[in-house]
This record gives sequence, C-alpha cells and structure tokens, in this order.
Amino acid sequence: MDIFKIEGPTRLCGSVTVNGSKNATLPIMAATILAGGKSVLKSVPHLSDISIFGQLLCELGCKVRRGDNGDLCIDSTVIDNPVGDYEIVRRMRASICILGPLLARCGRTRVSMPGGCAIGDRPVDIHLRGLRELGAKIYLENGYIVAEANGGLRGKEIFLGGSFGSTVLGTANVLMAAVLAKGKTIIESAACEPEIADLANCLNAMGARISGIGSPRLTIEGVEELHPIEYRVIPDRIEAGTFMVAAAITKGQLHINNCRLDDMMAVVDKLRSIGVTIDRADGGCVVAGAGPIGTGHITTQPYPGFPTDLQAQFTALLALGSGNSVVIEKIFPDRFMHVAELNRMAADLRKEGPAVIVAGVKKLIAAPVMASDLRASAALVLAGMAAEGTTIVSRVYHIDRGYEKIEERLNPLGAKIIRENI
Ligand code: EPZ
Repeated sequence: MDIFKIEGPTRLCGSVTVNGSKNATLPIMAATILAGGKSVLKSVPHLSDISIFGQLLCELGCKVRRGDNGDLCIDSTVIDNPVGDYEIVRRMRASICILGPLLARCGRTRVSMPGGCAIGDRPVDIHLRGLRELGAKIYLENGYIVAEANGGLRGKEIFLGGSFGSTVLGTANVLMAAVLAKGKTIIESAACEPEIADLANCLNAMGARISGIGSPRLTIEGVEELHPIEYRVIPDRIEAGTFMVAAAITKGQLHINNCRLDDMMAVVDKLRSIGVTIDRADGGCVVAGAGPIGTGHITTQPYPGFPTDLQAQFTALLALGSGNSVVIEKIFPDRFMHVAELNRMAADLRKEGPAVIVAGVKKLIAAPVMASDLRASAALVLAGMAAEGTTIVSRVYHIDRGYEKIEERLNPLGAKIIRENI
C-alpha cells in the first residue's frame, strides 16, 4: 500500500494543467452503452475509478482499451450480460449510472445496490423513483436492483428533487433512460452540474434531443436510436479548485491551464473573499495566495452553489485563517472524516452536527494522518504542504481515485512529496 511523505512548509510556483473531469467521464462512459458501436472519449484522465468503470463495461460485454494517444476506446456493439456485479459496484458507487442506459438498451437489467460510503448515507431512491416514472418495473432481489421495461420506456413529466436538492447521478440515470423512451420527458429539479451538461451535450452529439441543458428543467424528445461518438470531456473543476487551494495554502502563485472559471464562480468568489487573487489568463487563470488567509462562511450546495467536493480542501485552508470560520455541509452532512486528521496536525476544528467551527491557527504541525476518502485525502496533502515537518499520509489509494499522479504534478511546482510503497 502506498503512503506519501510530505515535507513542509513549501511554496508552490509555476504552471499546471488540469485533466479531464472524472465526474463527467464516468456517466459518459455509461452513455456509450446506449449506442452499439465504437466510441472514443478524449481527455480522459488515468484514474483507478476510470479503470474500474472500464472493467464494469467489459463485464457487460463491451471492449474497452486505451489508444496510444491516451484516448479511451469503448466498443459497445455487444451487451450480452446486462448485470452490474456486486464485486465491482461495491468498489465504486458511480457504477449505479449503468442502470438507466442498460434498461433503455436491453429492456432488463440487474445492478447491485451500492453499499455504504465513507462520506455518509447515499441512497438511490430518487434514481429508482425516476425510472419507475418512465414505466420501469423495479424490485430488489438479493441486494440487486432488478429493472424491467417490457414494451420499452415511456416519456413523462418527472420531479426529481430530494431532501438535499437535486441528485447528480440520479439525473444522469433518468436522462440516459429517457433519450430512447417513447415520447417526451421533462425532468424537473434536474442537477445543473457542468458534468451533467457535458453528458447531455454528448448525448445530443450521439443523436439525442435534449433541451434546457444547464437548467433545472430538462426536456427530452425520445428518439429511435443513437450512434457512437468521438467526444472530449470537460476539464475537472474539482481538480482545478484543489490546485487553487494549493496555491493559497502554500502562499504561492500558480498558472492553472485548461480550467473553465465559468464552471467555478462560487469557488472563485469564496477564494477572493478570503484574500486570494484570481485573474483570468489564456485557457485558465493565475492564482496567488501571498497575503494572510482570511476567514469565511462556507455552505455546500448543489451547483451553481459551493461544491461539496471542495469542502474538505477549503476546511484545510481556513484552518490557517486569521480568525474563526464556519463550514456547513448541506449535501453529505457526515462528510467530515478529514476533521480529526487535521486536528492531529494542530488545527483547531470543532464538529457541530453538519458543520465545523474553524478557529484559525498560525501554523500546522506535521503528523502521520490517514486518508478516508478521495477529497479528504486531497485536504491532507494540501495541509501537509503547508505544515512544519514531515507529514505521512497513509491509504493514498483514495487520492489516486480522482487525481492522476498528484505528486508528479505538484513536485515540479515546489512541493516535496515522496510516494513510498510499504
Ligand atoms: C456526485 O455523486 C459526485 N460523484 C460526487 O463526487 C459529488 O459529491 C456529488 O455528486 C454531489 O455533488 C460523481 O459524479 C461520480 P447526489 P452522486 O446524488 O450523484 C442524496 C467525488 O468526490 N440522494 O447528487 O452520488 C444524497 O444522499 C464524488 O468525486 C438521495 O437522497 O450525489 C446526497 O445527500 C463524491 N437519494 C444528495 O442527494 C438519491 O436517490 C446529493 O447526492 C440520490 C441522492
């Protein structure tokens, strides 16, 4: 198992390029199921989550390979085993988004219910509610969701909101089922995340008829069939945000390439409000965190609000703020595994229900810490670069799920991160 040894404090300086988005790629990989044939996806990062999703598609009957130029080639001509096996689904919850496309393509599918998750309770009731509205018969059997659509799916007006607002992968599942359904579907309270807009744009390029993209009301006119596609996924706004925090927490200056600021206005606004400068630059931006880190109040919300996937990284940043801050987690109320670990590094964080009271400290002190999930581990790496001494981060496999070779991209900027296999 790999660990990171991180020397601190360091100051990051230079230029870094953002990879394609993991959370746009995964549902788009599922969408290739809808059109039998060879699709090619571009700008797909090399991440363990992407490899696992590739294995999942192979289990269904697809052929998945990486081209010499790094493109991801998916041949979905044959789908002869429409089953999402527990052994794969338990490793990656996003596997659930094969449910809608398999139902639309094969008329019947079995997909394992996703299990527990370090960031909290993650039911899929809204996914199932939406698919039932399209006429699917759905029941649970031995931990598997069995979905049948004898005679095909039928378009309908569907409200997809839940107690925490919209659902990203729930919207993806229902959208992918609706594109081949008979008639018109309206999805109200659809997720507006850029990753969902990218999926919808990709589906339209495959021959679907979706309008209202980027808004909470998606209208889908069902079509007979879709065709395979060559498509480039959008840049990863969460990776870009993580690099922005890296510049701020190390009081450095980074030119971040391939970053769409328009997808990140809530993040940019928050960074500017705590004293970080962000200027647009060719194909991205320049982020400088020279001055003292201010204080802030963060509440995570569905897009275009502040993303929950940057909450841990900002908590680490505010831990070094010049006073008290509050972080409220409205999407995954239990998503605070990083708090105890940051306190081991002499942060002063107090968890109060779905919130953390952050009393800013002058400095963080290195310590051995444990990664528990993808974004919490990113926060620990950021804290390690700012802390005095050598921080040991264990269970690094969590960070490899969402950041491609992070140490090889940060070290040229001035970080001192060593990966060791123990
Ligand atoms: C996506 O997960 C992302 N994953 C998550 O990123 C991200 O944190 C999340 O959206 C929110 O932005 C991928 O895109 C692969 P949701 P998803 O359904 O779709 C509740 C990362 O770090 N809910 O939008 O699973 C749910 O419990 C990952 O890259 C229901 O109650 O999240 C949560 O409180 C982690 N019933 C809220 O809605 C449902 O049927 C939003 O979850 C579905 C969701």
